Amino acid sequence: MGYPENPKMVISAVVLYLLLLSHQTVSEEQVQRYIIREKGENAVLQCLDQPVNASLLLYRWKKDGTVVAAPNPLKPSEHLSISNNGSLWISGLQSTDEGQYECESQTTNDSSWQTLSNTLLRVSEGPTSVSLAVKPATLLPNGTLYVRQGLDVYFYCSSESFPSQNLTWTVEDVALDVYERASGNKSSLDFSIRNIQPSDQGMYTCTSQNTLSKTTVNKSQELLVYYAPERHPECSWEILNEPFDVLFICKWHGGYPVPTLDWHGVLEENVIAKGPTINSTSQETECLEIHVNRLILHDVKEVKCVGHHVTGVEKNCSFELKRPYPLGDPLVTALEGSNITLSCIETDSLPPAKTVWKQKDNKIINTTSKYIVYDNNPNYKLLIINVTKEDEGAYYCYSENPLDARALEVFLTVKTSAGNGGAVVGVFVSILIMMIGVTVGVTVYSKRDRICIGLGFSHLDDDRWDVLSLVDSDEEEIFHDTVPQLPPLTNGHATTLVEVHRIPSSDHEDNADSTDQQTHTEPVQQSADS
Ligand SMILES: *[C@@H]1O[C@H](CO)[C@@H](O)[C@H](O)[C@H]1NC(C)=O
Ligand SMILES: *[C@@H]1O[C@H](CO)[C@@H](O)[C@H](O)[C@H]1NC(C)=O
Ligand SMILES: *[C@@H]1O[C@H](CO)[C@@H](O)[C@H](O)[C@H]1NC(C)=O
Ligand SMILES: *[C@@H]1O[C@H](CO)[C@@H](O)[C@H](O)[C@H]1NC(C)=O
Ligand SMILES: *[C@@H]1O[C@H](CO)[C@@H](O)[C@H](O)[C@H]1NC(C)=O
Ligand SMILES: *[C@@H]1O[C@H](CO)[C@@H](O)[C@H](O)[C@H]1NC(C)=O
Ligand SMILES: *[C@@H]1O[C@H](CO)[C@@H](O)[C@H](O)[C@H]1NC(C)=O
Ligand SMILES: *[C@@H]1O[C@H](CO)[C@@H](O)[C@H](O)[C@H]1NC(C)=O
Ligand SMILES: *[C@@H]1O[C@H](CO)[C@@H](O)[C@H](O)[C@H]1NC(C)=O
Ligand SMILES: *[C@@H]1O[C@H](CO)[C@@H](O)[C@H](O)[C@H]1NC(C)=O
Ligand SMILES: *[C@@H]1O[C@H](CO)[C@@H](O)[C@H](O)[C@H]1NC(C)=O
Ligand SMILES: *[C@@H]1O[C@H](CO)[C@@H](O)[C@H](O)[C@H]1NC(C)=O
Repeated sequence: MGYPENPKMVISAVVLYLLLLSHQTVSEEQVQRYIIREKGENAVLQCLDQPVNASLLLYRWKKDGTVVAAPNPLKPSEHLSISNNGSLWISGLQSTDEGQYECESQTTNDSSWQTLSNTLLRVSEGPTSVSLAVKPATLLPNGTLYVRQGLDVYFYCSSESFPSQNLTWTVEDVALDVYERASGNKSSLDFSIRNIQPSDQGMYTCTSQNTLSKTTVNKSQELLVYYAPERHPECSWEILNEPFDVLFICKWHGGYPVPTLDWHGVLEENVIAKGPTINSTSQETECLEIHVNRLILHDVKEVKCVGHHVTGVEKNCSFELKRPYPLGDPLVTALEGSNITLSCIETDSLPPAKTVWKQKDNKIINTTSKYIVYDNNPNYKLLIINVTKEDEGAYYCYSENPLDARALEVFLTVKTSAGNGGAVVGVFVSILIMMIGVTVGVTVYSKRDRICIGLGFSHLDDDRWDVLSLVDSDEEEIFHDTVPQLPPLTNGHATTLVEVHRIPSSDHEDNADSTDQQTHTEPVQQSADS
């Protein structure tokens, strides 16, 4: 609360003091002291330049030419009083106390008043009530404000000072020169930032300085600029050790602060809000990973990851879940001693299934000298080398994902060379019969006037080596929906419900009107060991 004392003034005061000593004359206009005091304080105005050895001096004070304090007053004032050494005591300064004060003295043998010292008193006030506001902004519990990126933000600062003040705005200790109105002695100073950006984030300070006392008060406000990620969250999966052990990953990077993510299942009725919450770990994170299993995913057709940002932005990503559905020829016929390839295609499964070939005993077939397994997603092939009669039977194209496990049964029929020979003989016999028939027919025709009996001609049977392909995708859909649900086994093992869709081996194609007989399925319980 210091006030400037002009060195020149001090020097001139000393010079004048010496002059007074020699001449005892006063040049009142040339001595000018200047003091600034804060409103409400008490002030002491010294009566200086007193004559040495003057005994029994009397003092009085004038303000702006009028006597305001005299010795032995009739009504002693509490506000103004003169102490023994002549100084004027002012208690509880008011702005009206401002003025030019003169100290005068009187010696006992002289009735005239001598002017001794001259003091200019200034009363300052403030800055007080410095207030700062940022709109529109949201207050965080720790007192920090935040705004959404892109908004027009208004900054208000005001304060009170007497006689005047200088308001300035600074951001992160850098004065806002760009804003013309950022300097002045107005009681308020406002500015705005259009389309606020993250680079505008920082500490905003409004400083108010009393132009008289140079007293400075500043007020600071931390402002954060929040923004949601521009893109949508990314949903993905990662298959771990086992096909039913899957990690669903949801990532939503690029926001500030970090968003909140959660995964939901979406019910078929489209009641999203009521959808089963797979794992609603509502924690702030840019990446949410959850382990899923068959129990969690039971009956879920779609999963959704919803990201919430504090700015009110909500975005989601989702993916469909589909049971595995291996497709292929259910009936394959091979000639003994030849090589045969069993084929299967798995395109439905979401997340992608792990597809293997299995034998009747549920053992996974690996590539050996007997088998070659081709795993070329989505095509899965099994080459059986040098087929023998023992190879005849069912093979399973087994497909498993976190939702379900299903197998396509492929039945291999092995024809021996002998059977083949028999067929050749059969064909020969048929041709012979036909030729005989033609001969007989021609004979009969030539003698039709004598014979009235009709003769039938036998047809040549189709070659039964051909693979019968009875699978039709539309029909597959029909039985898919009619599969009964089996309760899970609880035999200590991890059990898996496997649907085997099998097309019965039928040599007869005369029941074309009955799709039920052509395609039906049998759910089979298999123990998913290993
Ligand atoms: C002031 O008074 C004292 C005695 O009271 C005296 O000794 C001294 O010389 C005086 N000085 C002047 C400047 O008159
Ligand atoms: C005069 O007396 C007041 C107290 O009454 C004191 O504050 C001030 O310093 C004194 N002045 C001088 C010049 O001694
Ligand atoms: C005051 O009186 C004394 C003697 O009593 C005298 O020496 C002095 O000069 C007088 N002062 C003035 C200013 O008249
Ligand atoms: C206030 O909280 C926000 C968010 O919680 C944080 O970013 C900021 O740094 C905090 N400010 C202070 C001064 O602690
Ligand atoms: C503002 O400052 C100017 C000089 O810089 C002065 O003339 C004016 O009176 C001041 N206004 C207020 C309200 O103090
Ligand atoms: C107000 O303050 C700024 C920075 O402190 C300064 O540059 C400017 O001259 C001041 N204005 C007045 C009228 O005192
Ligand atoms: C705030 O005020 C203090 C003194 O009260 C000063 O030292 C500081 O530099 C000011 N800060 C700013 C940003 O003006
Ligand atoms: C959600 O996942 C966390 C770990 O990712 C796990 O600790 C918590 O138990 C899960 N909550 C539910 C309801 O499954
Ligand atoms: C998910 O995002 C899509 C647009 O990508 C939007 O149409 C849908 O309403 C959002 N769903 C939820 C639950 O937020
Ligand atoms: C059967 O496959 C094996 C292995 O690829 C091959 O060595 C063999 O020649 C094949 N046999 C026939 C009859 O194609
Ligand atoms: C095939 O290999 C897997 C391990 O890679 C093994 O668990 C399985 O028993 C093997 N199958 C046969 C028939 O050896
Ligand atoms: C096929 O298998 C049979 C019986 O196991 C064997 O006699 C024959 O040599 C094998 N043929 C080939 C080409 O490996």
